[in-house]
Amino acid sequence: MELKNDLILRAARGEKIERTPVWLMRQAGRILPEYRAVRESVSGFIELAKTPELAAEVTIQPVDLLGVDAAIIFSDILVIPEAMNLPYEMVEKRGPWFPKTVSTLADLKQLKVADGEADLDYVIQAIKITKKELNGRVPLIGFAGAPWTIFSYMVEGSGSKTFSKARALLYTDPVFAETLLDMITQSTISYLKAQIKAGADMVQLFDSWAGILPPDHYTQYSLRYIQQICDAITEVPVTVFAKGAFFAREQMGQLNCETIGLDWNMGIAESRKMIGDHKTLQGNLDPAALYGTTQEIQAATRRMLDQFGTSRHIANLGHGVYPDINPEKVKVFIETVKEYSAKIRA
Ligand code: CP3
Repeated sequence: MELKNDLILRAARGEKIERTPVWLMRQAGRILPEYRAVRESVSGFIELAKTPELAAEVTIQPVDLLGVDAAIIFSDILVIPEAMNLPYEMVEKRGPWFPKTVSTLADLKQLKVADGEADLDYVIQAIKITKKELNGRVPLIGFAGAPWTIFSYMVEGSGSKTFSKARALLYTDPVFAETLLDMITQSTISYLKAQIKAGADMVQLFDSWAGILPPDHYTQYSLRYIQQICDAITEVPVTVFAKGAFFAREQMGQLNCETIGLDWNMGIAESRKMIGDHKTLQGNLDPAALYGTTQEIQAATRRMLDQFGTSRHIANLGHGVYPDINPEKVKVFIETVKEYSAKIRA
């Protein structure tokens, strides 16, 4: 299937393009009333994610309703622990929760390395349906959590302010930590390869809890495994988004990936210098900027585009869109990227 709009893939590869492509992290769901309508027709998030036809429908909604330049498959990063034998629940208004957690080498005997195709067939089917229904309109992004972030959830059992249980294990039982991180890494490689085989045109790793580690632990317990994944995924462009990892930007420039995501705390010019000209940068408007007026959003978006310049940039927010943002404001962001980025190239 030939893509009618492949701007984001060309931007990732560093090719010259007519305008800057734009999409939003967490664009599927959350902000759209159309998503909530589908969501209410099932028992909850997990049933929705496990019903490929519905997952495909909500994946495509932001393409139709917001005009983004890419779709991202509707799923969650926590499908990997479940496929490894550690199931999760999604508690209304509170977020993910694991009835069982792991913290010793003995616990790991209950887990397995997941097989992307066999154990995550519902995501694979959702990707196949989505690709068919998108019919080449825009590329489809596959994704997974980075091993450190997945490790944090498997150990803590839920979100946490400090993730102190997960971080403690890096000091008290590094063998456990490395064994689990390795199992997650192997599972993730198999999963991403299955997504790509099913039709994902590019993939993104979300290291949402990168920012809680000291730099040396980040190198040893996160980047090392991200590197293994980047080295293994040679089929499509890879994006690494490590929230809060401002201290690791130079090292991220050395990863075997095409794109580095910036959060909104990271200065654009300084990030470009640290990461280098050979990577595409993605981001990084403050998600809270979308609470502003139309004029304020337009001004902030143009400022961002001026700072990134016209090459090697994929426009996005600096983290996922907040659930209470008015979709009309999201459209202002998207339209401004499209118009202004074409204008500054003309
Ligand atoms: O638009 C998309 O990007 C669709 C797919 C997607 C979801 N989660 C769906 C989802 C993606 C890419 C994710 C990634 C994800 N999930 C991350 C990494 C990105 C980030 O925000 O840092 C993390 C840390 C998670 C774990 C997770 N899932 C949390 C903490 C929560 C609860 C709070 C929240 O963000 O809503 C979820 C639930 C979740 N994942 C929802 C959706 C649409 C809301 C659940 C619902 O509809 O009931």
